[in-house]
Amino acid sequence: MNPLDLMIDGELHTRVSSHVTKNCGNLIDTGNPEESGLIRILKGPCGGTPRMPLECVSDGDAACIPPDYIEALTQWIADGAQE
Ligand code: HEM
Repeated sequence: MNPLDLMIDGELHTRVSSHVTKNCGNLIDTGNPEESGLIRILKGPCGGTPRMPLECVSDGDAACIPPDYIEALTQWIADGAQE
């Protein structure tokens, strides 16, 4: 179980871990959060793709994923992005 208590297993885990984005490389680069599209796109624009979620333009906007959530996802990837 990861720090957010998210359930990422089975087909979802397979799809998330193998997905290659159009502009932002591998969604997950296991062990390397800074190279992972998921983390990069939650922190800022990535390749030609705007920061996500789409309504999040600057830090602190209501639409942005809170920093502690991004940190938990970062840790999960650093720890091997396990099921
Ligand atoms: C945590 C939430 C979200 C995550 C992790 C996320 C992640 C992503 C990723 C990985 C891509 C593909 C990037 C690529 O192929 O280079 C993408 C594309 C896109 N997302 Fe999101 N997304 C989120 C929320 C949203 C929301 C809420 C919207 C709309 C209201 C949205 C609209 C789009 C659109 C329109 C694209 C295509 C952009 C383009 O190709 O220029 N996303 N998103």
